[in-house]
Amino acid sequence: MLAELSNPSVCMRDPQRVQDILQSMVKAGSNTVQVISDFDMTLTRFAHNGKRCPTCHNILDDSKLISSDCRQKLKELLNKYYPIEIDSSRSVEEKLPLMVEWWTKAHEILVEQKIRKDLLASVVQESDAMLREGYQLLFDHLHEHSIPLLIFSAGIGDILEEVIRQAGVFHPNVKVFSNYMDFDESGVLKAFKGELIHIYNKREGALLNTGHFQELRTRPNVLLLGDSLGDLTMADGVQDMENILKIGFLNDKVEERKQSYLDSYDIVLVKDETLEVPNAILLYLTGNKGAEN
Ligand code: TMP
Ligand code: MG
Repeated sequence: MLAELSNPSVCMRDPQRVQDILQSMVKAGSNTVQVISDFDMTLTRFAHNGKRCPTCHNILDDSKLISSDCRQKLKELLNKYYPIEIDSSRSVEEKLPLMVEWWTKAHEILVEQKIRKDLLASVVQESDAMLREGYQLLFDHLHEHSIPLLIFSAGIGDILEEVIRQAGVFHPNVKVFSNYMDFDESGVLKAFKGELIHIYNKREGALLNTGHFQELRTRPNVLLLGDSLGDLTMADGVQDMENILKIGFLNDKVEERKQSYLDSYDIVLVKDETLEVPNAILLYLTGNKGAEN
């Protein structure tokens, strides 16, 4: 077993199964692997020095592009809907319409703000957005080994691209499915493009984008990274999947949610702000480091 899997933050329902999946992936070779990852609170940090880090939406909420009245409204929405998002006592069926309501209301408010495209880069620069420790190795290593990375996010595509661009890791092997802003000819936000992606419809998004997965048909081994139970369906567009290893970050409400995460993710990382475990797995899969038994 990889040494990193014995870290105290690592929980697994069935370590043998993890071992078996890893072994068949290694056998198949890293040229059969693709990575599918959520963005907010998966590639980015949940907290730093005890302070919450922003999601894509929060980067805008906290920015100079938003009036104080609008900021107040967005905070109220966050305070109302975030506890619902992480409430393990409610079913997905119950939460889904409420999440659609959250995203719809937030986007309506943002569109009223006449946000300028040319100011997004400075807003990201001035924000507290932070990719998880080890991001450089993750992105660079995937690029060096030509392993495709799909970032599948219910956040805002324009913002997340800027975060990874400014971190210097927006390599050509990275593809993004997300909510993209639609600007008018003078560069002012007028709407969001296409179908809304929220935390519980990633499956539909995956199935609608079969063209992308079609190109990756020779990569039936998937490493999936997420932080929400809605992230588990991000790989549903992958045809003829052979193996999938699901790694879940459990950032908040740990005790209440641990069992459901253990039941659905193969590896659960509890309050782990780093990418150490995914990186160790990638190094193992690309033959850079042997498994230690
Ligand atoms: P994702 O992690 O699946 O990409 O989802 C985006 C996150 O964005 C989700 O955890 C909820 C959060 N969010 C906000 O912080 N503010 C908002 O206004 C909205 C709509 C979502
Ligand atoms: Mg997330």
